[in-house]
Amino acid sequence: GSTRRYKFNVVEKKFTRLCSTKSIATVNGQFPGPTLYAREGDTVLVKVVNHVPYNVTIHWHGVRQLRTGWADGPAYITQCPIQPGQNYVYNFTLTGQRGTLWWHAHISWLRATVHGAIVVLPKRNVPYPFPAPHKEVVLVLAEWWKSDTEAVINEALNSGLAPNVSDAHTINGHAGPLSGCSSSARDGFTLPVDNGKRYLLRIINAALNEDLFFKVAGHQLTVVEVDAAYTKPFTTDTLLLTPGQTTNVLLTAGQGAGTYIVTASPFMDSPLVAVDNRTATATVRYANSVATSAVTTTKPPPQNATTVASSFTDSLRSLNSQQHPAKVPATVDHSLLFTVGLGVNPCATCANGSRVVADINNVSFVMPTTALLQAHYFNVSGVFTDDFPGQPPIAFNYTGSGPRNLQTMSGTRLYRVPYNASVQLVLQDTGIIGPENHPIHLHGYNFFVVGRGVGNYDPKSSPSNFNLVDPIERNTIGVPSGGWTAIRFRADNPGVWFLHCHFEVHTTWGLKMAFVVDDGEGPNQSLLPPPNDLPSC
Ligand code: C2O
Repeated sequence: GSTRRYKFNVVEKKFTRLCSTKSIATVNGQFPGPTLYAREGDTVLVKVVNHVPYNVTIHWHGVRQLRTGWADGPAYITQCPIQPGQNYVYNFTLTGQRGTLWWHAHISWLRATVHGAIVVLPKRNVPYPFPAPHKEVVLVLAEWWKSDTEAVINEALNSGLAPNVSDAHTINGHAGPLSGCSSSARDGFTLPVDNGKRYLLRIINAALNEDLFFKVAGHQLTVVEVDAAYTKPFTTDTLLLTPGQTTNVLLTAGQGAGTYIVTASPFMDSPLVAVDNRTATATVRYANSVATSAVTTTKPPPQNATTVASSFTDSLRSLNSQQHPAKVPATVDHSLLFTVGLGVNPCATCANGSRVVADINNVSFVMPTTALLQAHYFNVSGVFTDDFPGQPPIAFNYTGSGPRNLQTMSGTRLYRVPYNASVQLVLQDTGIIGPENHPIHLHGYNFFVVGRGVGNYDPKSSPSNFNLVDPIERNTIGVPSGGWTAIRFRADNPGVWFLHCHFEVHTTWGLKMAFVVDDGEGPNQSLLPPPNDLPSC
């Protein structure tokens, strides 16, 4: 492959949305940020220069980072942050991956505005396993707050309560023509199309805290790829993406003429918003159709439309072709069961005398003050322990009467895995406070989603329904509210790898942990040494 060089200047810039103006952190002054283009096998060098008065890091979400954990990006997990005035070159190779991924800040809540697409094309002269599109379009879905997002989360942490929800969702940076703010009517995103042509939409959910449905009025969408892994194509009118997930679809412009509304709308209701009016809109406009010609709208699915959500999720299968086989681990070396959920801890200084916390297996993760990967590589003791519980330490039963498993302890605890071990991880939602999905993201790996169900996972009967043939392969999975999801992966990437809920608020509250994967014995089985410009804490 070739080498691609990018420069990311992190700078503040003023943007006006929803009729009000604020300064936001951006890359190169763009919101959403620049798209990073490469081909499978290419090496990418991104020099990130910090021109803002606070720490930043950038994560390349879904990039495997084989043996290059130093370039992964989560602050205090794989690196110390890039301090004001400093820079760092992220250096990684796109091995065995092609499709849509994305990059985002991975510190505090900066990813609200510091994010953009990664488009990895197949190797030169290698076709897509689906009909070639006439044109490709990136659609980044996100959220917009009128107030400063760092203030939003800091306020929530001080009060112990949930943070305010966003004021709008956005499609390519705009709330859209139906957002209700007169000035945004002009600036919604428009996709011009020609009748009869085929478009590949590369859709990314970069929202902080919301699963989103996606629809295009008058058009069916054929799903061909998720999280940079090809799928068996299937056609639907509604997509569901959790924060962190990407979906590629083919859209054929077959309506002849007119203007068609695109919607991105929340899946679950937010406790703070009685009637949600934050649906983002954009338009698909046929050539020769003037702005005033007939506009076809679509009704987004109602909130909590779990049937729509599960029918989409259940339709996803790996392509599993000869060229792209699904390499599902057939046996399991480490069988883990993690509970994921929210709880409450006493807090004397908080508004209600209590604070919302989140945990995995009753451990609310405490961020260290130095990077875990460095502590691991240089054998620094006292930074973390490797005794993360592989099973819930307290008995649980979330669907019937107690025990309820409410206790939360804190710690910087990791789970250690030998090189190349196969891991099965069942994620059990606890739904203790209320119904909520948890989009769980694993760094450094793709995993196969071998099963899911409602209620309690039963280690005796549940595995009999696992799909070990063509389960979907991805890097982020929504664990259903009051249910469970089982994933499998092979630990063939040495390093320290973050696992966390991609709802930023849940991560902040502690719904995170990390795996430490040891080096193997053979050549090319160990973590590479850290680059010279790796920031220090
Ligand atoms: Cu896209 Cu650790 O996240």
